[in-house]
Amino acid sequence: MIETADSGRIWLLSGRTSGYALHLTDHGELLHLHWGPRLTLADAEALALLPLAPHRPFESPLDGQEEYVVECGPRFARPALSVRTPEVRGTEGEFAGADVDGDELRLRFADAVHRLGLTLHYRMRDDSDVVERWATVAHEGAPGDPDLELLRADAAVWTLPPREGWRLSQLHGRWAAESRLVRSPLTPGDKVLGSRRGHTGHQHLPWVALDAEGTATEESGEVYGCALGWSGSWRIAVQHLPDGRVQISGGAGYDDSGLLSLAPGHAYTTPVFAGLWSPDGFGGASREWHAWQLARVVPEAGRVRPVLFNSWEATRFDIGEEQQRALAGRAAALGVELFVVDDGWFGERTHDAAGLGDWTPNPERFPGGLKPLADEVHALGMRFGIWVEPEMVNPDSALYRAHPEWVQHQSGRRRTEFRNQLVLNLARPDVQEHLWEQLDGLLSSVPVDYVKWDFNRSFSDAGWPGEEYPQRLWIDHVRALYGLLDRLRAAHPSVDFESCSGGGGRIDLGILSRTDQVWTSDNTDPLDRLAIQHGFSQLHPARVMAAWVTDSPNTLLNGRRSSLRFRFVSAMAGVLGVGGDLTRWSEDELAEARGWVELYKEIRPVVQLGAQYRLRPPEGGLSAVQYVRGDDAVVLAHLQAQHHGLRPPALRLRGLDPAAAYRCLDTGAVHRGAVLLHRGLDTGLVGDLDAAVFRFRRAGAGEG
Ligand code: GLA
Repeated sequence: MIETADSGRIWLLSGRTSGYALHLTDHGELLHLHWGPRLTLADAEALALLPLAPHRPFESPLDGQEEYVVECGPRFARPALSVRTPEVRGTEGEFAGADVDGDELRLRFADAVHRLGLTLHYRMRDDSDVVERWATVAHEGAPGDPDLELLRADAAVWTLPPREGWRLSQLHGRWAAESRLVRSPLTPGDKVLGSRRGHTGHQHLPWVALDAEGTATEESGEVYGCALGWSGSWRIAVQHLPDGRVQISGGAGYDDSGLLSLAPGHAYTTPVFAGLWSPDGFGGASREWHAWQLARVVPEAGRVRPVLFNSWEATRFDIGEEQQRALAGRAAALGVELFVVDDGWFGERTHDAAGLGDWTPNPERFPGGLKPLADEVHALGMRFGIWVEPEMVNPDSALYRAHPEWVQHQSGRRRTEFRNQLVLNLARPDVQEHLWEQLDGLLSSVPVDYVKWDFNRSFSDAGWPGEEYPQRLWIDHVRALYGLLDRLRAAHPSVDFESCSGGGGRIDLGILSRTDQVWTSDNTDPLDRLAIQHGFSQLHPARVMAAWVTDSPNTLLNGRRSSLRFRFVSAMAGVLGVGGDLTRWSEDELAEARGWVELYKEIRPVVQLGAQYRLRPPEGGLSAVQYVRGDDAVVLAHLQAQHHGLRPPALRLRGLDPAAAYRCLDTGAVHRGAVLLHRGLDTGLVGDLDAAVFRFRRAGAGEG
C-alpha cells in the first residue's frame, strides 16, 4: 500500500509488517524518513518535522539523509549517480513529479543542463516486507546533443536509522567454498563488496545484512538486509559516515569508470536492489527473503523440483552413449526423475582444451546424435537434460577458428585463457544471433527438458576493438545473457534451466528470475556442504539449491569418507540430486539410496516450499535445519563429531503450535508441541558424521 500526505511531499509504503517513508523537502531534496515497523502517515509527518543535523563547516547536511545520492553540490558521501558530458560533470535534479501505479511509486527528477531524466522506483507489496528499488536514467535531449556518460548509476541507496553501532553479515568465499557467512562490527569508512569479474562471482554473494549493535540472534532482533539482482560485475558499498550514519548503495559495475554512454532518446534501467527489514532475527529475515523469491522472483516456484542425476563426477570427460545408458538405467531404478548429461557430449570435447562453442553431438560418442539417449531416458520415465556453456569458446574449436574476432580481447594483446577458454563477446548482435540459432536448434532437434547453463571463467581481457564505447560490453553481456534465456524460455516453455558457474559463481536474484535452480558449489563433500548451505540459506530458498550425493571417499576434493546416510541427509536440505558413479555402487548401496530418494520425495514439498528454520549452525557439533509447511515439519540433523562425555544437545524446534501434538513418523512417538519447542528433541545421534531425518505431523492431521 502506498499513501501520500496531503502536502504531496511525503510518501509511505507499507508491507506485511514493515513500512518505508520518504520526504521531499521545501528545497527539493528527497530525504529518507523511515525504514522499520509499520507507521501511520501521521507518524511519517511527525518524523519529517524533526530538525536536520546542524550545519558544520566540514560536513554536508545532506550526507546520510538522502534517498539517492547524486554527484554534485554539497555532498561528500559516495554518489549513486555520476554522469558526465565532455563539458559538465555531475547532475542536479529538480523534482518533476510523482506517480503511484498500484504498488509502485515513481519519483521523477529532471536535470536541465544534461537534459537527463532520473526516475526512482519503489515497490512494496502488501504481503511482503521486501522493498524493491531501482532507477531509470534517460537522456531526454535532442539528436545532436552530446551523449551522457554514466560513470556510475546505482539502483538505490538504503539508509539505516541512527543507532550506536552496526554489525555486518556477509557471504564470502571462493571456488568450491562459496557463501561462507561471516559477521563483523562495521567500522567507520566504506566496506565494499563486489565482483569485477563480469559475473556475480564465487567471492561474494550480492547481499548484506546489518543488525544494530550486534544484538540480533537467529530468531530475535531487528535485521536489515539488501540484495542485488544482477549477474555481471557489481558493487555494494556499506558506508559508515563520520556521524555514525549508515548508507548502503548498490548497482551494476564495480568501478566508477563508466557503465554506458547514453545517446539522446536512450535510457538505462538499473537492476533491482531489494531491501528488507525484519523484527525476527536472521532466521525471520531469511524466511521473508525466501517467501518473496518463491512468490515473485523464481519462475513457477510452486512446482517442486525433480530429483536429478548428473553425470559429471561419475564420468568427467570420458563419456559415451552406452555408458550413459547404463547410468540412466541405474538412476531410474533409484527413483531419479531427471537425467542430465554433463560436459563432454559435443564437438571435440574429450578434454577441457577443445570443443567449447561447437554445440553438435560428438559423432564418435553419440553416433545417432543425442536423440536415442534422450528417448531411452524418457522411456525409463525420466526427463532428459544436457550441459552447455554457451558464452565460451576453446581456441581449439570450429567456432573460434571461424570467428576469432568474436571473443573479448584487446587489440594487439595476448588473449588470456582460463581453463583453456575465452569469453565470447555477447554484446555483439552477431554473437547473440549465432547462440540463439545454435541453442534453439539444439532444443528443437533433441527432446531436451533441462539445460544446465555453465560459465567457467571470469572476464579478463574485456575489450571490443572497433567499438566506440567498448566499456558497455560489461553491461551488455549480461543483458544479452538475460535476453537469450528469456527468448529460449519463451520458445521452449517446457525446458527448465539451471544456472551454474563453476558451482556457485553466478547466483543472484537476477539469474534466479529466469532459471529454475542453481548449482550451489562444485564442492559435493557432505560436511563442507553444510557450511555452504547454511550461508546460501541466509538469502535463497532450498527450492533453488541443488545438492548432489556423490561418491565416498570424495576423491575430487578432500578424500573424506562418509556414510550414504550422511551424504543423503546433507543433500536433502535442498533440491536432491545424485552425482556418484552408480555403476560402482553395490546392490546394498543402491537399495539404501532408493530408500533415501523415496523419503526425499515424501518430504520434498516441506523442504522446498516450507518455512526454513536454522536450528543450529554447522560449527563442529550438532547442527540442524527444520522446515515447516502446514501441519508438517521436517528436521534434518547432522552430528559432525562427538566428544566423550558430552551428549549432543536436545534440538529445540521452531514454528510449531505449542498447543498441538505432533507424531514423529520415523519413531512413532507423539510429542507435545510445547515440549518440542522448549525442552527439545533428543536426536540420538552418535559418533562422527551421523545424521537423521525426523518427520513430524500434527496429530489428527491427515489421519482420516
Ligand atoms: C563446472 C561445473 C561442473 C561441471 C563442469 C564441467 O565446473 O560447476 O558441475 O559441469 O563445469 O566441465
